[in-house]
Amino acid sequence: MSIDSSIACASCHIQQFAFSDTAIASRGVASGLTGRHSMRLVNSRFAVETKFFWDERAATLEAQTTKPIQDHAEMGFSGQSGRPGLNDLLTRLSSLGYYNELFQFVYGDKAVTEARLQECLAQFIRSIQSFDSKYDAGRAQVANDNVNFPNFTAQENQGKNLFLSPPVFDATSTRTSGGAGCNGCHGAPEFDIAPNSGNNGIIGSLAGGQDQANTRAPSLRDLANISGTPNGPMMHTGVITTLQAAIGHYGNINANPNNARLDPKLKPNGIGQKLNFNAQEVNALIAFLRTLTGKNIYTDPKWSNPFK
Ligand code: HEC
Ligand code: HEC
Repeated sequence: MSIDSSIACASCHIQQFAFSDTAIASRGVASGLTGRHSMRLVNSRFAVETKFFWDERAATLEAQTTKPIQDHAEMGFSGQSGRPGLNDLLTRLSSLGYYNELFQFVYGDKAVTEARLQECLAQFIRSIQSFDSKYDAGRAQVANDNVNFPNFTAQENQGKNLFLSPPVFDATSTRTSGGAGCNGCHGAPEFDIAPNSGNNGIIGSLAGGQDQANTRAPSLRDLANISGTPNGPMMHTGVITTLQAAIGHYGNINANPNNARLDPKLKPNGIGQKLNFNAQEVNALIAFLRTLTGKNIYTDPKWSNPFK
């Protein structure tokens, strides 16, 4: 679905990496680069925040799906600088026998329209689900998230408690007790992001300058692979590469006065939060984040290249 047939959705959303990319910026057609880091596509169907992209500019998943196709740097059907537009792609798809057959099967006729393409792509994205993690196995055995999970180690249960519980701060916004407050934005069991949250203080831009608009995160499920290694760099700039650094970011939030969209939860008393973690707490949070990783999503052929 790219102008020169060199790039697929899966070029940047790679199954082996939970449908994300190990590169900070992904490569599109004609060596174009994306303006933000590629997002994992895990359990989008169950996202609490139903707007998509880091900056939530797509109102629905359907609306999202044809944006990368029309992006000049990604798949190239931009209609700009002499490039073909989306209608040219619809014509191309209409001329392929196997799509005639599939559209006929789904819709009763073989017409390929933008609305149909959006529906099909969105349904495919919704099918990408990961529910075979250690977290899911534990959650199924207890009445609610706050109970210790019988299949967790003591460290994983400690990490879960820290993730779920809100912090208690003193007047200088230093945590004196309570947890890390992650669940206030990345709520269990989906772990994506609460609607209407602000940004988390990461306001850089791959293009240089500032970008305060990023208020969505993909689900924190499958942040790391089954060996515990991150599936790629994190945040919209890919600036964070380890789980420890991700936790460390929240440990000391910079309430930059130029950042109008920093979420108020991260600056109690108007001062950036200091979570004051000890090493044991950081390691417990890492252990908990690793329980959110599934197995099947990385290899199930129903999400793999059908032409191979
Ligand atoms: C050239 C790389 C590239 C290609 C090709 C690409 N994407 Fe993406 N995708 C990205 C990047 C980068 C983002 C985040 C962009 C942003 O937020 O500005 C993203 C975001 C998304 C999101 C939002 C996820 C969320 O949780 O908000 C979805 C869904 C998605 N892509 C689906 C697709 C589909 C479907 C295709 C094929 C039609 C596709 N992508 C092609 C790089 C790519
Ligand atoms: C006030 C809301 C909020 C809280 C609380 C919060 N986050 Fe986030 N988180 C975000 C936002 C917004 C993003 C997207 C940031 C970006 O890329 O600009 C994000 C992104 C992330 C990412 C990167 C996800 C990815 O796919 O790259 C990780 C990891 C993460 N948060 C972990 C945590 C942990 C661990 C905690 C608790 C210590 C936490 N967050 C608390 C709002 C929050």
